Amino acid sequence: MMTAIATHPTATRKAVAPLLEEARTRTLMLVDGLSDEDLHRQHDPLMSPIIWDLGHIAHFEELWLTRNLDGPIEFSEMPGTYNPFEHPRSTRASLSLPSLEDMRRLMEDIRSDVLERLETADFDSDNPLLRDGYVYNMVLQHEYQHNETILQTLQLKLGEPYHPPMRRELPRSVSSAELVGRYVTIPEGDYAIGTNDTSRAYDNERPLHRVQVHAFNIAAAPVTNGEFAEFIRAGGYSDERVWSAAGRTWLAESGAARPRYWDGDESGWTVREMDDVSPLDPLNPVCHVCYHEAEAFARWADARLPTEIEWEIAASATPNGDKNAFPWGDVPCTPDLANVDQLAFGTAPVGAYSANVSAFGCHGMIGDVWEWTSSNFSGYPGFQSFPYREYSAEFFGHEYKVLRGGSWATRPGAIRNTFRNWDLPIRRQIFSGFRLARDA
Ligand code: AVJ
Ligand code: FE
Repeated sequence: MMTAIATHPTATRKAVAPLLEEARTRTLMLVDGLSDEDLHRQHDPLMSPIIWDLGHIAHFEELWLTRNLDGPIEFSEMPGTYNPFEHPRSTRASLSLPSLEDMRRLMEDIRSDVLERLETADFDSDNPLLRDGYVYNMVLQHEYQHNETILQTLQLKLGEPYHPPMRRELPRSVSSAELVGRYVTIPEGDYAIGTNDTSRAYDNERPLHRVQVHAFNIAAAPVTNGEFAEFIRAGGYSDERVWSAAGRTWLAESGAARPRYWDGDESGWTVREMDDVSPLDPLNPVCHVCYHEAEAFARWADARLPTEIEWEIAASATPNGDKNAFPWGDVPCTPDLANVDQLAFGTAPVGAYSANVSAFGCHGMIGDVWEWTSSNFSGYPGFQSFPYREYSAEFFGHEYKVLRGGSWATRPGAIRNTFRNWDLPIRRQIFSGFRLARDA
């Protein structure tokens, strides 16, 4: 019934060192050209100084790939300066943090210990941390995820805007316009959700279980800038009827009247992506909206947000009952298949990636923008925390909403149909958009 989920080239021991190397090359490429001042500055209270992310990436790697591999597992992220639970983001600029030069040396020293320990790592071990290279995949994904955090900070950068080291060319759109406003229908049934993968899935993606759903309609593409501009033009931000109570509170406190990084007005919106300010692309997915804005738009459009279960079904289910790891099947994610992996430094028009379509006909579920769902973040039935509570369990049962599908800023090794991201409903410095759903 279930197909094996091959999400990313499996980490054989020999494959790990080049993957670690590649992850680090990318991290350093993103920060290359930033001054020590830019790296140490608190660009926004929501974000860490970038130098802190670098130290945190290195110490997380040291904790899991050296200390925890021998000796008892320390079930906390890590002690000290780089422990996110000891120092809230807004306070991290006051920590004593090394220069980039010293930080690079520290990163290299940790890495050489890690590579030495890798020589004797047994991927057939009974230890679930080592088996199939789990902990190496976890550390790789952690670095990938912090790359995306760093990109949020770079988009918020104070002073001179960030100049991307390159901009990958996006494919020309073939079918954007006819996707807008179109829905696909998913029949009532019992569908496979999550995974039993123990080589790279996070604990919150497990276990595989079945969920019964009513028939529903889900949009063939995420909501576009053009559609969102229409919501603004129609007075959506001041239409009390479409905002929840929490949404109205957020509106009053933030004074928001358009997505973050939009400028101008109805006669001509511009959107900023790093150092590029361009006229709004009406066929690109809207980005940098919070949950409240997504929910208000949905009410205004006589629709709703999908649940994360509906989202996963639309991305992964096939009409014959199989489950795909990615919308297009089980071929690993690459930047040729979807707008992922950062180097486009922005979104593409919906439908631009012709292979990025699920069996039920949903386009662009992976890449471009994270998609808000109506679901609160919690454990699946039978959830077991592994290997540390601070990754998932600590965040269950609060007001976090689940986002799915990854963005242009997500590295392909850290996204798949079962991947669950989460954030507070007021956050919009993240690369977040949404797609609509309706009861069938
Ligand atoms: C899954 C993106 C919410 O950034 O807090 C990074 C990822 N966990 N280090 C976060 C994470 C530990 C996490 N999010
Ligand atoms: Fe982290």
